[in-house]
Amino acid sequence: MTDRVAVLRDKIRRAEEGGGLERRERQHREGRLTARERVEILLDEGTLEELDKLVEHRCTDFGMADQKIPGDGVISGFGRIDGRLVFVFAQDFTVFGGSLSETNALKICKVMDLAMKMGAPVIGLNDSGGARIQEGVASLGGYADIFLRNTLASGVIPQISAILGPCAGGAVYSPAITDFNLMVKDTSYMFVTGPDVIKTVTHEEVSKEDLGGAMTHNARSGVAHFAADDDRACLLLIRELMSYLPSNNLEEAPLHATTDPSDREDPALDTLIPEDPSKPYDMKKLIAAVVDDGRFLEVHEHYAGNIVVGFARFAGKSVGIVANQPAVLAGCLDIDASVKAARFVRFCDAFNIPLVTFEDVPGFLPGTSQEYGGIIRHGAKLLYAYAEATVPKITVITRKAYGGAYCVMSSKHIRTDLNLAYPMSEIAVMGPEGAVNVLYRRELAAAEDAIAMRLAKVQEFKDKFANPYVAADRGFIDDVIEPRQTRRRIIAGLEMTRTKRDKNPPKKHGNIPL
Ligand code: HXC
Repeated sequence: MTDRVAVLRDKIRRAEEGGGLERRERQHREGRLTARERVEILLDEGTLEELDKLVEHRCTDFGMADQKIPGDGVISGFGRIDGRLVFVFAQDFTVFGGSLSETNALKICKVMDLAMKMGAPVIGLNDSGGARIQEGVASLGGYADIFLRNTLASGVIPQISAILGPCAGGAVYSPAITDFNLMVKDTSYMFVTGPDVIKTVTHEEVSKEDLGGAMTHNARSGVAHFAADDDRACLLLIRELMSYLPSNNLEEAPLHATTDPSDREDPALDTLIPEDPSKPYDMKKLIAAVVDDGRFLEVHEHYAGNIVVGFARFAGKSVGIVANQPAVLAGCLDIDASVKAARFVRFCDAFNIPLVTFEDVPGFLPGTSQEYGGIIRHGAKLLYAYAEATVPKITVITRKAYGGAYCVMSSKHIRTDLNLAYPMSEIAVMGPEGAVNVLYRRELAAAEDAIAMRLAKVQEFKDKFANPYVAADRGFIDDVIEPRQTRRRIIAGLEMTRTKRDKNPPKKHGNIPL
């Protein structure tokens, strides 16, 4: 070995050692993997091509000139997931707490720029104490450079963020702009200001976990889309998520061969929906029964359970599913559900993933907290997202489709390509009880036997509207189908829309009611 090769090997060794054995062991003790171990699990074996492994920081203040580690606390490069090109960066907490230096940001920006040129996803593995304190504004500038790239890449290439340790301060805003955030239970945190600052400013006492742990962001704030049990599970989940996504906005998601017959009928579906319209049922059972091999990757599982969103496949082709969940809040649309579904619909539309909607919605959730919270504005987001979406859209009304929620949930009127309904569907302005109260308020007040009159009027209303045939008569529903036929009919619809071309008027961008 020549001296020059020896020098190179020494630099590589130092880069791979990161912050040293003791700090690596600390990662393990705290239930976390090192950045290098994470990248190995994420990518197909042996495919990492590392870039900028020899980059060092340029800071000379605070004795930093003597503390240089090649790579400077972030692993960046490209590799493969299921043979497909992806770009990746992984912050190394063992080097200055994974904090973001100027050079560290340049490394991340370099892979983001390459990803945009090549049309390949970027996956960020975040584990960082935020801006590198010793570098001051140079580090802040680095963050802003990343945020700009996140924004410009949005809708062009999928961007996925895993939060695998602390993620504090402005560092949370890069993940926030990306398409999906995955967090690990008990070992990852996201907050703009930590517990100590909060205590000083507002006198609130809150633990790290309660403030910004995985379940806080999965179940309460909605900032995170997935909660994994450990680092390994999180990285494998990213691989699974990737299998549903195209590499960029000009491609289609990869086809996955399946032995599940396209014409498979499921007689159990005929009795899944209870006769009594006030009885709940689990919409996820319906989804599992109709998609390829019963496989459904739910997104935002722990947030706004009254709407279900996620990825599945029909005849091998990736789709985004949006479904009201009658088992939670009777499937009403509220603020959180509207925002959750709107973001998902827009992701699918940006990345050519057809939308399949299962609808059972009694309406928007009534109440002052919803009105004061801006349900009008937030509900409009979902309406806007569906209306603007030009990907293939298919809707199946399984039971209730009432009021504004009927219009919102991918109705025919907002450019849905195929609208199907089950025979037990009820499509009307409002439920029979509410309708009778409004229409016959005076008569009921004056009636001798108000109870009998109400029952008769409710029945009259049910006979007229609590069915899919008035809508089918107008062509708002393309067909009324037996539940057992759902899979076959959706696949036929997706086949029909395979060559769909539709577009929106030219504009700089719309003004979605944010
Ligand atoms: C430089 C840092 C650092 C940082 C941690 N370290 N954060 N070095 N800049 N921001 C170093 C520590 O000095 C330590 O070095 C090592 O990383 C591990 O940190 P510990 O504190 O020992 O780890 P732990 O107890 O697990 O606590 C992790 C932590 C804590 C919660 C992240 O370190 C912390 O609070 N850090 C500061 C967080 C922060 O306020 N960052 C700035 C946010 S503002 P040694 O040598 O001992 O191993 C921001 C602005 C961005 O980011 C704005 C963009 C718009």
